[in-house]
Amino acid sequence: MAELLCVVGARPNFMKMAPILDALRAYPKLRPLLIHTGQHYDEAMSRVFFTELGLPTPDRNLEIGSDTHARQTARIMEAFDTLLDERKDARLVLVVGDVNSTMACALVAVKRNVEVAHVEAGLRSRDRGMPEEINRLVTDAVSNLLFATSADAIDNLRAEGVDPSIIHLVGNPMIDTLRRHLEAARKRNAPAELGYSRGTYAVVTLHRPSNVDDADGLHRIWNALRTVADRISVFFPVHPRTRSRMEALGLAAHPNIRLSAPLGYLDFLGVMDQARFLLTDSGGIQEETTALGVPCLTLRANTERPVTISEGTNRLLGSSPESVVPAVNALLDGPAPAPRCPALWDGKAGERIAAVLSRHLAGG
Ligand code: UD1
Repeated sequence: MAELLCVVGARPNFMKMAPILDALRAYPKLRPLLIHTGQHYDEAMSRVFFTELGLPTPDRNLEIGSDTHARQTARIMEAFDTLLDERKDARLVLVVGDVNSTMACALVAVKRNVEVAHVEAGLRSRDRGMPEEINRLVTDAVSNLLFATSADAIDNLRAEGVDPSIIHLVGNPMIDTLRRHLEAARKRNAPAELGYSRGTYAVVTLHRPSNVDDADGLHRIWNALRTVADRISVFFPVHPRTRSRMEALGLAAHPNIRLSAPLGYLDFLGVMDQARFLLTDSGGIQEETTALGVPCLTLRANTERPVTISEGTNRLLGSSPESVVPAVNALLDGPAPAPRCPALWDGKAGERIAAVLSRHLAGG
């Protein structure tokens, strides 16, 4: 039996790991253990995803919680190091995405000569001011197996001199989860519960430090949303980080902007599916809207997911809040972009990843 430790830490990790764990069940010679670092810890950011995605209760929760980047990373490393003391037979650590937990556990494993596999390897924004870009670069640099979601990620890895034999193009496990749960999400019909019908509202999510940590910038984004809300209803589930910044600013309400707590997976998927468009700074939402064929406006200067622009429904606005209103007007007044979807975003990425892991660890 080859033991592998499958690490999750924060909200966007859960939907990537779920289909991989499912697919690993087909390989009795592999023994996956689920480790939650506890980077995200509360009901809305963590627990609801376990219930809705059918994720097993973690075999271990390191209960790290929030802190500065250095302290959070250091605490994850210490706790994961202690865990590896106990799991002496662990053959491989599987990490997903680009959060602090991803990098911290990859570093601990490689220093102990335990192999690392990274799902979502090779994405690059080329913006080293973004904590996730550092996490991506470090994790890929120390990994023994690299699973790429799209061909552009492979180009990035090759340009960095990575041995092509460790790179596997497997598709996007986050989209496996989306396809698996779309019917259930549609049945729950969250938009109707909120009083919206298809195509009559926009969804906003913002949590990147570059957008929400600067008071003046957040004020200007809010003013842009108020103008947008004069044309279309705006639904804005607010990330905890953003909520604390917004409360500090005391922003003026608008009757057509509805703020809410973060939604669970199924309700958010249902709300995205029927939206006229999304305005976001999330990485995952750029991909999910592409798979759904719903237009996405990304309020960032760059994206590590260019395939959502070249082969999807995403448009990059740049970092200026003043770009929002003209982009929304163009979208509402122009023809809808034709929905397209990148290769291998077909619901089978988890199976491809499990097959490679099985060949690597158990010879079949
Ligand atoms: C983290 C990830 C980011 C990911 C995002 C998704 C890093 C560097 N960033 O950013 O890539 O897109 O998660 O949400 O790993 N909080 C809660 N409840 C929780 C977790 C956090 O209220 O369960 C609050 C904390 O008080 C904290 C704030 O949210 O101050 C930010 O949490 P943190 O994990 O530090 O980073 P995120 O901004 O969520």
